[in-house]
Amino acid sequence: MAAITDEKITIPSLQARKEAGPRIVCLTAYDYPTARILDESGVVDLILVGDSLGMVMLGYANTVPVTMDEMIHHTKAVTRAVRRALVVGDMPYFSFHLSADETIRNASRFLKEAGASAVKIEGASAKRLKLVAAMVEAEIPVMGHVGLTPQSINRYGRFRVRGTAAGEARRIVDDAAALEAAGAFAIVLESMPIEVAALVTKTVSVPTIGIGAGPACDGQVLVLHDMLGYSTGYMPKFVKTFADIHGVIRGAVETYAAEVRDGAFPDGGTSYHLKPEVASELRRARPRSPKAKGRR
Ligand code: KIV
Repeated sequence: MAAITDEKITIPSLQARKEAGPRIVCLTAYDYPTARILDESGVVDLILVGDSLGMVMLGYANTVPVTMDEMIHHTKAVTRAVRRALVVGDMPYFSFHLSADETIRNASRFLKEAGASAVKIEGASAKRLKLVAAMVEAEIPVMGHVGLTPQSINRYGRFRVRGTAAGEARRIVDDAAALEAAGAFAIVLESMPIEVAALVTKTVSVPTIGIGAGPACDGQVLVLHDMLGYSTGYMPKFVKTFADIHGVIRGAVETYAAEVRDGAFPDGGTSYHLKPEVASELRRARPRSPKAKGRR
């Protein structure tokens, strides 16, 4: 096993992890302070500014409404904080659907304006594979994403596990291989049986990053707000919560409210004080009458 170091993570160093380990640790982040915590930990290799930001940060029902400008705004905040991890910006819905030129222009904004090192794109249709190749040709590293692709919500009607039937499982394996052939440097495998993710991971020579795809992948990703217990609402089976940030914030807000109401906050320690001589001068000073105010 290769040792974890504080060296900058690069695409070749991620590739080396496929062969020698350790597994790649990936989390999403959308803002400066949390990206800073993740990066300073020294244990997060990949930070994905996912379009999940629409759901966990902006309150949209799904990822479809997320815009390029929103993605760039949040990716900039993340890259200002990150020194070690590789930052990947997620191409939002309709940023890569019209033409190769527009796709490359949008993808290049993540690198030129926002300081990311790569982009992620959902799907592996023949048209999508050509876009992956075109972006790679334009020196934009691309991460693929197969299995459950949340931007397809309006086609499928709901989020469900993919590849549970043999035909669909085979298609996922073939799609991942095609993404590698098109030049993807890594592939996210979302919501699929362990066996399918294991076969993909054995088939492709680039790293696989699983989410709801079991332990055989070369790395794992979770949406940060889900694993921190900060998200509200429906949580897929594959999410493990490692903290209760919702409870921590709620508890702090309730204590603050109680202290404000009963006068315990602010106290002497959290207030400013006059020097004693200034306080007595203030007491001695005659109050100015409102009439005197306008006169010189
Ligand atoms: O948008 C996102 O956060 C993602 C991950 C779930 C892989 O695509």
